[in-house]
Amino acid sequence: MLNDKKVSYSGIQPSGNLTIGNYLGALKNFSEYSEKYKTFYCVVDEHAITVRQVPAELRKRTYETLALYLACGLDPEQNCLYVQSHVPAHAELAWILNCYTMFGELSRMTQFKDKSAKHANNVNAGLFTYPVLMAADILLYQTDVVPVGIDQKQHVELARDIAVRFNGVYSDTFTVPEPIISKTGKKIMSLAEPTKKMSKSDENANAVVYILDDKDTVIRKFKRAVTDSDTEIKYAEGKDGINNLMTIYSCFTGKEFDEIEREFAGKGYGEFKLAVGETCADCLAPVREEFNRLLKDKAYLETVMKNGAAEAAYYANKTLSKVRRKVGFVNL
Ligand code: TYM
Repeated sequence: MLNDKKVSYSGIQPSGNLTIGNYLGALKNFSEYSEKYKTFYCVVDEHAITVRQVPAELRKRTYETLALYLACGLDPEQNCLYVQSHVPAHAELAWILNCYTMFGELSRMTQFKDKSAKHANNVNAGLFTYPVLMAADILLYQTDVVPVGIDQKQHVELARDIAVRFNGVYSDTFTVPEPIISKTGKKIMSLAEPTKKMSKSDENANAVVYILDDKDTVIRKFKRAVTDSDTEIKYAEGKDGINNLMTIYSCFTGKEFDEIEREFAGKGYGEFKLAVGETCADCLAPVREEFNRLLKDKAYLETVMKNGAAEAAYYANKTLSKVRRKVGFVNL
């Protein structure tokens, strides 16, 4: 809680072009909290460098990710939008929390196992302690809810465990956060390999629909989506490709699966794929348009970043100063 309001906090890495997985699993849901909650949405550039980045690209994507937050309807007057590295309290709290997180806990993180296998030549300490930085992000703002896709659930649970542990040692310091996982969009799968999560780092561009893809590209990718040898549009076990397309269609239209089954009864996969592609492209068109407009106004984006960082730092430093006192540091 902050100023009698519950707090919603989330973040997205500027480590690649954002996908409809990021959109449906997280970004699209952020604005739901804007009225009732005090909201913080961060561009987590410090997380991004756990994997090698081209510096100019990282900088460009940081602006782009902020522009996407705005283009998805997050009003900077109502939501604190900022860049992680502009608020040094994140790195400082992460160090302290490192000393309250167990090696065994971090070793069990599935994302660490996946990423260290994928980047075997760069298994750096930051990749290992990444969830501690994420816990610091969340706990600095006395966060109540964290809207994320299912792949981040384990990290939010670790943040809970760290908060409970710290509170147990030093008395109540942190709010214990809850992950909020959307029912339908929690795990959007790859269009090429529908048993695998759609990921911005996928090398196969046809597997991934980016939020900023143009209409023709979106439709082409959906037309090529891998399905199965059956013909029925039905949500069922073993029909991973169709299940994924139905999920995406449901997220964009708000229709339930049985309604979608009725709508496409007797129709072929080709017709269904085209409908999903068109719906997705039409829903994303206004976001793309607004994004392109915003990206031309770098000065405005920097103003949002500056104001966001100043506000975030105010709240973050309050928590940090409490933590410093509790662990026994001298506050001057
Ligand atoms: P990141 O940047 O990988 O993803 C951003 C958000 O998108 C969700 N997501 C998906 N949801 C559904 N289907 C998919 N295929 C899909 N792919 C990604 C993710 O679950 C996430 O919610 N560690 C985080 C960033 C982070 C953070 C935080 C999040 C850093 N600090 C504090 C919340 C709170 C990450 O790498 O997300």
